Amino acid sequence: MKIIVTGSLGHISKPLTQSLVQKGHTVTVISSNPERQEAIEAIGAKAAIGTIEDADFLSATFKGADVVYLMEALGAGSFFDHNLDIMAAHTKIANNYAQAIQHSGVKRVVHLSSIGAHMDKGNGILAFHYLVENILNKLPSDVAITFMRPVGFYYNMLAFIPTIKTQGAIISNYGGDDQEPWVSPIDIAAAIVEEIEISQPEHRKIRYVASDEFSPNEVARILGEAIDKPDLKWLVITDEELLVGLKAAGMNPQIAAGFVEMNASRRGGILYQDYYRHKPSLGKVKLTDFAKEFAAAFFKS
Ligand SMILES: NC(=O)c1ccc[n+]([C@@H]2O[C@H](COP(=O)([O-])OP(=O)(O)OC[C@H]3O[C@@H](n4cnc5c(N)ncnc54)[C@H](OP(=O)(O)O)[C@@H]3O)[C@@H](O)[C@H]2O)c1
Repeated sequence: MKIIVTGSLGHISKPLTQSLVQKGHTVTVISSNPERQEAIEAIGAKAAIGTIEDADFLSATFKGADVVYLMEALGAGSFFDHNLDIMAAHTKIANNYAQAIQHSGVKRVVHLSSIGAHMDKGNGILAFHYLVENILNKLPSDVAITFMRPVGFYYNMLAFIPTIKTQGAIISNYGGDDQEPWVSPIDIAAAIVEEIEISQPEHRKIRYVASDEFSPNEVARILGEAIDKPDLKWLVITDEELLVGLKAAGMNPQIAAGFVEMNASRRGGILYQDYYRHKPSLGKVKLTDFAKEFAAAFFKS
């Protein structure tokens, strides 16, 4: 099949592209960086250099594709850009995708959404996934769309490193012994490949993706053991304290508030209610696998 992959050679799109190429598909990878062309070609894909901010570029690139894999990317450091309206930025990209799908005539879409996309409010920063799913859902019924809803990525835990180094603990506005799911981009890529290869896709489908489930206190124990700090603790602070800390670190205030509310929705499992109603089988990459990557990053920083 002729497949378009957005997300360049990012965490999901690199293993996704490698797997699709190995399976004999013709893959075109969209990157905003001309210097990425060589690395894209080295794994056997074609490069389309341009931006997902440009609907005409997307329309031209999508033409003739059997399947498009879509994700919304913002530039590096965007969470610290005080001029960014994250909801408006995602709405614009989603509208570009919708326009390009209609202009190019593509009939099969696999879209990277997220846990929390079923909630229009109370999920903080994740509300943009609700907006994007709704925009794509309005596409004509002959466009088959699978919404991938991965849970929180393991790599988010790399953000714990600064407070472990400075205050000897993981610090957030949620914590405790209730289990929650986490996921590896490797398992997400594998699930996307499965969806792409379904020969008669449903008109609309939602698929949650997770790799492992464990509690914040278990995270502290497993990561602590990996970095030679077996007594590492996960400390819980208030929403207000976290908000003050994120803003002091220079984060865009809208996004900081969105992070605080997203984490608050983890308390009591509100964020995960729909996930547990449609619980997927867990992927292969476990927290103990990620702990090795975490330790390497910890000792390097
Ligand atoms: N973190 C989580 O827990 C979580 C949970 C659920 C869903 N998600 C979603 O996961 C996604 C991130 O996936 P990922 O980790 O695979 O991505 P990633 O590693 O951040 O890679 C995304 C790539 O997209 C490219 N890009 C950036 N801006 C672009 C533009 N304007 N036009 C074209 N390409 C652009 C960049 O590569 P180039 O420099 O080569 O262009 C970038 O490396 C986000 O959409 C997020 O909402 C995250």
